[in-house]
Amino acid sequence: MPFGVGGEKRRILRAVAENFATGADNCLAPTADRPYPDLMDASSTRREFLIGCAGCALAAGVVGCSAVNPAPLVEADAQGSVPRAGHLQKPGDQIKVRLPDVADPVLVWRTPQGFGAASIVCTHRGSEVHFTPESGTLDCPSHGSQFDQGGKVLQGPAKKPLKPYQVIVDGERLKIRPA
Ligand code: FES
Repeated sequence: MPFGVGGEKRRILRAVAENFATGADNCLAPTADRPYPDLMDASSTRREFLIGCAGCALAAGVVGCSAVNPAPLVEADAQGSVPRAGHLQKPGDQIKVRLPDVADPVLVWRTPQGFGAASIVCTHRGSEVHFTPESGTLDCPSHGSQFDQGGKVLQGPAKKPLKPYQVIVDGERLKIRPA
C-alpha cells in the first residue's frame, strides 16, 4: 500500500514545515470549543485527532501545526470506489477517501442532491478543509479560506482552487475520479 498513515504524517509535517517557513502560528487542530459540526464519528475521530496531534507533538516548541478534519478515513479499492452506505448516510456526512496512487486524501461529502468530492488539502498552507452543510462550502479553519463545491476559491487567503473530483454512483458503491 503506497500511502497510509505514514503518508498522512508526512503531509502534516510538510504543512508544518511550510508554516514554519512562512511564519504561521496556527495550531488549530480540532478542539472542544471549535468542533466540526456533524462530523464527529466515534470510531474514527479519536484516531484522526491523534494523527493531528502527532503532527503537533513533533512540532511542539518549534512550529505550529495544521488543522485536521476528523472525518472517517476510508480506503478505496483498486478501482477507486468506496461503499455508498456506512458513513455517508445523510446530507452533511463526509469522509476522507484514500485513493490508490494519490498522495493526499480526497474529501467526499453528501448533499440533498447527491455527492461531491475535492482534494482535502487547502491550497494556502496545507490544512484539511471540511464540508459545511449549512453554507454548502468547503472551509479551512486555519486562516478562513473558503471554496465552493467545485473547488473554486470563494474567499482567501488561498489563491488556488482545490483539485476537483467527480463521484459516480455505481450501485452500492461510489467511484471517485478526477473531474
Ligand atoms: S491553510 Fe491557511 S487558509 Fe487553509
